Amino acid sequence: MLKGKNLIEPLDFTTEELEKLFVLSNKIMDKPLDFSECCKGDILATLFYEPSTRTRFSFETAMLRLGGQVIGFSGENASSAAKGESIADTLKAIGCYADIAVIRHPKEGSALVASKNAGIPVINGGDGGHQHPTQTLTDLLTIKREKGRLANLRVGFCGDLLFGRTVHSLIRALSRYEGIEFILISPEELKVPEFVRNDILRGKDCKYCEVTDMLDVLPQLDILYMTRVQRERFFNEEDYIRLKDSYILDEEKMLLAPKDMIVMHPLPRVNEISVEVDTDPRAKYFVQVKNGMYVRMALIMSLLGKK
Ligand code: CP
Repeated sequence: MLKGKNLIEPLDFTTEELEKLFVLSNKIMDKPLDFSECCKGDILATLFYEPSTRTRFSFETAMLRLGGQVIGFSGENASSAAKGESIADTLKAIGCYADIAVIRHPKEGSALVASKNAGIPVINGGDGGHQHPTQTLTDLLTIKREKGRLANLRVGFCGDLLFGRTVHSLIRALSRYEGIEFILISPEELKVPEFVRNDILRGKDCKYCEVTDMLDVLPQLDILYMTRVQRERFFNEEDYIRLKDSYILDEEKMLLAPKDMIVMHPLPRVNEISVEVDTDPRAKYFVQVKNGMYVRMALIMSLLGKK
């Protein structure tokens, strides 16, 4: 039972609980109108201290499609945080108004602080370069629907593996399934952080390798998970400019990829996937966007204890 829980990091839910969420997501996808009044009378608060398109709008449309209502703000100056209010106090106030809240904040650990003060279920919509667990739900649901399984997969993560919180969360989540092999493709400067290498990859004895050349490994992959170089987390603009176009997936490179490989990306993209790849049937990043709304509908229902 997920009723009343928070979702702060990907391992907050067991694999059995995730499986139930995916079953519910598929049911909603099949017959969305059957769920259109499930959350009537409930209010979702969206607290976005950082920009977002998909996470915020998918949560908001998810709640509206469930018959609930939405309050919220977007931007670090759009709430009393601009006057110096702490996250703890903001969440104590939001807990008086709403039934469930989503928070995105540039500081690692902020969602955890929020969850300890709100008194209502809190969902982490991304905390700095740390975790993004609802993107992980989206990614796992997409992998399950497109590949038919969450085990025995060779998954290539490519790009900014240092700051990419969606990568950290998905590696953590996939590390619980059998037969997963991680191929980590990045420039030296953007390799996965130590907490991912030590706690997850080495700590759980995962099969993994770190490489710099995408073309060497592309023919071996079941999934290629591309990521944007995260300009907003660099200390130095020169480093960003030097590294931003390290990997660009285009039609020519896709010729080297297996016919049944899928390409994923949490989006937004900048240059790392050419638009010509969008029409390749292996490109699944816009499928991910749609799956994200349905899995968030299932998540809201589950945390609020709705049948
Ligand atoms: N994938 C994702 O988190 O996108 P947004 O930044 O647009 O929410």
